[in-house]
Amino acid sequence: MAELTFQHIYHPPQHGSKRTILVLHGTGGDEKSLLPIAEVLDPAAGALSVRGKVLENGAPRFFRRLAEGVFDLEDLVFRTHELADFVSTAIETYQLDPKNIVAVGYSNGANIAASIFLHRPEVLSAGVLLRAMVPVEPADQLDLSEKHILISEGRFDPIVPIDNAERLAQMFRERGANVQLNWQDLDHRLARTEIDAARNWLGQA
Ligand code: MLT
Repeated sequence: MAELTFQHIYHPPQHGSKRTILVLHGTGGDEKSLLPIAEVLDPAAGALSVRGKVLENGAPRFFRRLAEGVFDLEDLVFRTHELADFVSTAIETYQLDPKNIVAVGYSNGANIAASIFLHRPEVLSAGVLLRAMVPVEPADQLDLSEKHILISEGRFDPIVPIDNAERLAQMFRERGANVQLNWQDLDHRLARTEIDAARNWLGQA
């Protein structure tokens, strides 16, 4: 069996749930950072929480950037496939339901989740993308019609411009995804109320 090449934490689903949440931290986080959020979103779901392999001055990330909001696109595509391959291997290793993997990412973790939808959509069924931006504009037309994606953004976020977040939602919609874009009166920081809204959304996804 192939090796699991990312440092990660795995908690199996409970109470008959078939869902696994792929948990993806923001810059400087690790595989423990977002577990409490995953627990709120769906306490019965399994969690596959991954640590990004790229280090920026010691801070883990999922892909390299050249400056704030300026991504190293070659590295982004390489890391997207590397992470999608890891998820495929984890599906086999942990016997996960391949039709019920939900990405939950914050900031850099939301951006790599968006990139997986745009390059390797077969590994995800849904996503909760917290403070995501457009990672890359892929040329190919993918069919995302089975995918459910919630994007939660802050109106006063200095990192994610409003039009960039709207473009991301539009890119998913153009490819057929079922997308909800929620706006908060917040900046890049998260609030409990939006996590509760995401929990309700996930309950129906
Ligand atoms: C971050 O700090 O994580 C960024 O704002 C998002 C990114 O670089 O992917």
